[in-house]
Amino acid sequence: MNTHGNTIKRAFSLVKLFWLGDRKWVAWGWLSLVLAMLVGINILNVQISYAERAVLTSLQEKESLEFWHNIIKYALTFVVGIPLVGLFGWVKGKLHMAWRDWLTRHLLAKYYDNDHFHKINSDPRVDNPDQRLQQDVSLVCDKVMTISLALIDSALAFCAFITILWLISPTLVGVAVCYAAFGTFIMLRFGKRLIGLNFEQEKLEADFRRNLMYNREHATSIASYRGADREHKGVSERFRLVLSNWNNVLSWQRNLTLFRVGYDYFIIVVPMVLTAPLFFSGAVDVGAVFQAGTSFGRVLGALSVFVGQFMLIAELAASAQRLASFNEILDRLHDRSCDPEEQCEIERGRDAADGVEVRDLTVLTPDRKRRLMEGISFRIESGDRLFISGPSGVGKSSLLKAVAGLWTQGRGRIDVPAAQDVLFLPQTPYMPLGNLRDQLTYPGRGEPPSDEELIELMRLVNLGEHVDRYGMDEVHPWADTLSLGEQQRIAFLRMLIVAPKLAILDEATSNLDAENEARLYDLVTARGITVVSVAHRPAVLKHHNRVLEIKQGGEWSFAAV
Ligand SMILES: Nc1ncnc2c1ncn2[C@@H]1O[C@H](COP(=O)(O)OP(=O)(O)OP(=O)(O)O)[C@@H](O)[C@H]1O
Ligand SMILES: [Mg+2]
Repeated sequence: MNTHGNTIKRAFSLVKLFWLGDRKWVAWGWLSLVLAMLVGINILNVQISYAERAVLTSLQEKESLEFWHNIIKYALTFVVGIPLVGLFGWVKGKLHMAWRDWLTRHLLAKYYDNDHFHKINSDPRVDNPDQRLQQDVSLVCDKVMTISLALIDSALAFCAFITILWLISPTLVGVAVCYAAFGTFIMLRFGKRLIGLNFEQEKLEADFRRNLMYNREHATSIASYRGADREHKGVSERFRLVLSNWNNVLSWQRNLTLFRVGYDYFIIVVPMVLTAPLFFSGAVDVGAVFQAGTSFGRVLGALSVFVGQFMLIAELAASAQRLASFNEILDRLHDRSCDPEEQCEIERGRDAADGVEVRDLTVLTPDRKRRLMEGISFRIESGDRLFISGPSGVGKSSLLKAVAGLWTQGRGRIDVPAAQDVLFLPQTPYMPLGNLRDQLTYPGRGEPPSDEELIELMRLVNLGEHVDRYGMDEVHPWADTLSLGEQQRIAFLRMLIVAPKLAILDEATSNLDAENEARLYDLVTARGITVVSVAHRPAVLKHHNRVLEIKQGGEWSFAAV
């Protein structure tokens, strides 16, 4: 119960975002229209039931004039009904669209704000953020709307048709309530199990898809290890789990459906059995028997609304939980709370002009479980080039991530230029989708250089041949077609175009020969960019004028060279 309560509370806080947000007037506008149409449809249904009754009675009594009069009235109700019923789905769809539009943009803004997408992707509590953003947002909006409208519709239908039923025979009302209570009780027992199974199904499907995506991303590495068999086995095992759970879902659905079909069939018979004696005794006409049948069905439909919506509620619960936790974690990234006694985030400032100052720095891993280094302090001035060396795994890349502001957990203070003046170059550069121009001008801050300037830069780093080969407009899977050294040279050009005050290079020239490497460092030095770099090859040291050596065990030393 507690977890159900929790799910409802979390789903509600998610729903509130849109309905009380900055576009609430659009939301309430569409909703008012949907509700007005719903009320209209219910009034129409009552009208239809009376028109139907009148037609049947005039037929039974062979009143031909009366019949034609009634059939025209019957047809006219349908004319009013066409736009009302026909447009209802469209108006509902527009509300769904407005909601999904707002919620997706709201979450995307938080996801891409302040590198949160980077932090959340290394958070084990959030699997498949892409699924949450694409599928769950749409599902939650759609299901909350569909279920709420079904509840409102049922309440309206219940009030209208219970009155009709009461007017024909109060016994029918009592039977309808008992019948609905019995059906609901049985179906909830089946349905409860289905909620858990559905939740599991979503998770297993997502794991299966994620494994395939992971293999696609790392296809070259897997092929080079001849690892296809192993991956095939792993993926097949995940698919086996999907099927096995799905089989359970199907079995429970089969039981639920069997019960439901029987339940629905008897809805037709029960009111006939109860009203036939009234008809035979002459208390009601044949139209009333028919009207009692449809009204009984509608009242039961309304009373069994929870059962009818059970599968939707189950799917909604799963999606709402996933989306709510995603949203909560994004919010927590915004205002991370921690023990006030303990500093939990590395303080950041801009006191070092265009250089870097690190004071008494402790760096923790993002999950805060491991301390990677402690008490590091150094300062470099604008235009200095710092070389960081140390054995593998000692925490060099982590220190660079902390300086770049990508890792924030720890203590101490780091002063660096403003975020837009800092550029981090990892060992494997990111090659965005697009043409050669897009590779060079990524991430596209400021005025882009002309093609002539870009070609000139390409020639500077021995990539002129590539311009001749691909031109500036051809789209390629660059990460797979360019060698790692070529990608590293492109990443350097990107840096020259962005012209940051501080460049952070994590083995950013590891795949280059000494001549190409020297050329890149010369270009950076000539532009006066402050550099902090990590490299394993000692030859790189000569391009730097400061060195920080980190030893195993956490000892460190800083010196000028
Ligand atoms: N996201 C993470 N979560 C937890 N631990 C991590 C994470 N990333 C790295 N580590 C751990 O932190 C330690 C330091 O890693 P780091 O990548 O900084 O080493 P490095 O000095 O750059 O090594 P190399 O020279 O091999 O690149 C390693 O033991 C690594 O396993
Ligand atoms: Mg490293």
